[in-house]
Amino acid sequence: MENGSAEPKRLEGKVALITGGASGIGEYTAKSFVKHGAKVMIADIQDELGQNVCNNIGQQSASYIHCDVTIESHLQNAVDSTLSIYGKLDIMINNAGFGGLQYPNILDNTQFEFEKVMKVNLVGPFLGTKHAARVMMPAQRGSIINMGSISCSIAGAASHAYVSSKHGVLGLTKNSAVELGKYGIRVNCLSSHVISTPMTRDFFKLDDEGFCKVYSNIKGAMCTLEDVAQAALYLASDDSKFVSGHNLVVDGGFSVLNRGFCMF
Ligand SMILES: NC(=O)c1ccc[n+]([C@@H]2O[C@H](COP(=O)([O-])OP(=O)(O)OC[C@H]3O[C@@H](n4cnc5c(N)ncnc54)[C@H](O)[C@@H]3O)[C@@H](O)[C@H]2O)c1
Repeated sequence: MENGSAEPKRLEGKVALITGGASGIGEYTAKSFVKHGAKVMIADIQDELGQNVCNNIGQQSASYIHCDVTIESHLQNAVDSTLSIYGKLDIMINNAGFGGLQYPNILDNTQFEFEKVMKVNLVGPFLGTKHAARVMMPAQRGSIINMGSISCSIAGAASHAYVSSKHGVLGLTKNSAVELGKYGIRVNCLSSHVISTPMTRDFFKLDDEGFCKVYSNIKGAMCTLEDVAQAALYLASDDSKFVSGHNLVVDGGFSVLNRGFCMF
């Protein structure tokens, strides 16, 4: 990750709230945003990890708040605390996510497990969007980013619950982008290929070597946290001021390829 002093800061003066910012994509994105001049509020349920991330970034630029995204009052409080500490909210990243259990047979899937994944991955972004919009509407501006996945648009790479939740996230993105445009608020989805994080290591039972072997359409390349952070930076910054309702796919072309019927 770089942002030497010569590189312009793309989020100078902006304030971002990042759910699931204690680990993986959220943590890396928070660090990257701060390097680009933003203040960040990290909202997560892993309090010690989240606090450590903030200590690592520096208390001047980062704060932590306990927030379970499945509970509306927690998100309401996270948004209100961001306002009371930093005075505003420019960027909301609904990133907290959960892989759930990997049951390839639908008969083994339980309603309880299905709903658990839906609550974190879909109800969470709904509540995050709602409470971000509540304070962005009067400000007449804002950028909301929902963390999607290749499972927003293709099937078979994850469980029924995960794929359903991520398809839902894309629907929520489009619908809220349509509604919130009149308030100057943009809503986009960011969908990456698989990256080694605690969530995916647990879900796919892969080690780093295993991740290197995951199919990539770009020879020798695999998706990295930096790739996702760069895409988030674009969607969060004014560089994307006319981009809304979009699903920015960062997968090296993986999801447009049909490997079963391909002439190349
Ligand atoms: N890693 C990948 O390959 C990949 C690919 C595409 C999309 N994604 C998405 O990116 C997002 C981040 O995933 P990651 O890979 O960085 O995983 P991760 O496990 O490293 O981070 C997820 C974070 O979400 C937090 N979280 C979980 N449940 C929560 C809840 N109820 N309330 C608040 N926080 C909660 C966890 O504590 C954790 O800090 C997820 O939405 C995931 O679906 C990941």
